[in-house]
Amino acid sequence: MTRRIFILLVLASALAGCGLRPAGNTTPLQVHPDMDSQPKFKAQSASAFFADGRSNRPAPLGTIAQGHLNEDDGFVMGKDASGNLIKGNPVAVTEALLKRGQERFNINCATCHGQLGDGNGAVKTRSFGALAPANLQDTRLREIADGHIFDVITNGIRTMQPLGGNIPVSDRWAIVAYVRALQRSQSTNIKDVPAGTDIKAADPSSSPVSAAPSPAVGSSPAASPASSGAASTTKTAAPTKK
Ligand code: HEC
Repeated sequence: MTRRIFILLVLASALAGCGLRPAGNTTPLQVHPDMDSQPKFKAQSASAFFADGRSNRPAPLGTIAQGHLNEDDGFVMGKDASGNLIKGNPVAVTEALLKRGQERFNINCATCHGQLGDGNGAVKTRSFGALAPANLQDTRLREIADGHIFDVITNGIRTMQPLGGNIPVSDRWAIVAYVRALQRSQSTNIKDVPAGTDIKAADPSSSPVSAAPSPAVGSSPAASPASSGAASTTKTAAPTKK
């Protein structure tokens, strides 16, 4: 007897799982409905319930997600409260930030601006110079506010497309810090060498000092091959100073 009840129970639950349909009836007979019907709205679907006909509900006006208050204009927009571009980097410049900036620069900027920032990236060489991304070693760009570089990355400028959508705010500042390090690495002078360093013993071709003959580097095309030749050895020459 107990064995028959057991077999019946097993059969009943097996059939219930299949959504048994009596002949000619389209509605399944659900012995155990369990989670078969789950009334809900699917994302982006229509709804007759809401006046606007959408199942997706817009956030009430003025809602801010946790952690996205974005109060700090300097950090988020590169501008101070009166809308002027900020001079310095709002993020503390550490070795870790520069490493991150180097990686992000090489991914997002070097194709156009070159790994040295001298404007000689693949886009320029492969277009035989027809497309000329800016030379970030230019004196004007050396002296420009950090907020400007941040703004260029965020919103683009003239023929450069905006990259803000692809690069998070904190990475943009890391890139700005790295651009400064690149600029410094290409304009070092003998006074930057720490006292007591034996520069004569160092290989002249790998010395950052020899790679920076004059502040005019990069602004004249003739200076570019020399500086790109030193790319692998000089690009992180002065990473921790700003
Ligand atoms: C697809 C190519 C391309 C990429 C990628 C690119 N740029 Fe540019 N960038 C340009 C071009 C072209 C210009 C010159 C725009 C002009 O003057 O018309 C420019 C100009 C600039 C300038 C000079 C702005 C000024 O005041 O004249 C800066 C600074 C700059 N880019 C930074 C960056 C940084 C940092 C990145 C990476 C996050 C980046 N760019 C990625 C093509 C690019």
